[in-house]
Amino acid sequence: MAMVDGTIAGYGGVHGNRARRKIRHRCTMGISLLEEYWGLGIGTAVIGYMAELAKQAGYEQMELLMVADNERAGVLYRKCGFAECGRQYRGMKFDDGTYHDEILMYRIL
Ligand SMILES: CC(C)(COP(=O)(O)OP(=O)(O)OC[C@H]1O[C@@H](n2cnc3c(N)ncnc32)[C@H](O)[C@@H]1OP(=O)(O)O)[C@@H](O)C(=O)NCCC(=O)NCCS
Repeated sequence: MAMVDGTIAGYGGVHGNRARRKIRHRCTMGISLLEEYWGLGIGTAVIGYMAELAKQAGYEQMELLMVADNERAGVLYRKCGFAECGRQYRGMKFDDGTYHDEILMYRIL
């Protein structure tokens, strides 16, 4: 949870499966902030914090899926050290019926 002056500004989460031996070095992350808190550096700070916690928990790499046309998220993730490593074609179908590719990104911790 990202808190600003006692108010919830958004959330970030990390998920992994430490029980599965061959993939327990990997975790995935997600982040979402309320629009009024965009552009203040909160995303950068939350990702840095999650990466540190994930590393302390024993994960070696962090991964994420991002809708390909989400420019703001792309800038943020590249700035935070993530690199593109795959594409899920038509991974998302929006309520208006349009399909959107998802980009898979990863970062070594
Ligand atoms: C994506 C999100 C987490 C970014 O958080 P944030 O706190 O705004 O990120 P920051 O302020 O730390 O950094 C954003 C960067 O994008 C840049 N940016 C801002 N608006 C932009 C735009 N329209 N296009 C491209 N880059 C943009 C900023 O300049 C900043 O880079 P800089 O620090 O080098 O100047 C936030 O916008 C969000 O929650 N969006 C909705 C949910 C979402 O898209 N989640 C990601 C799903 S994969």
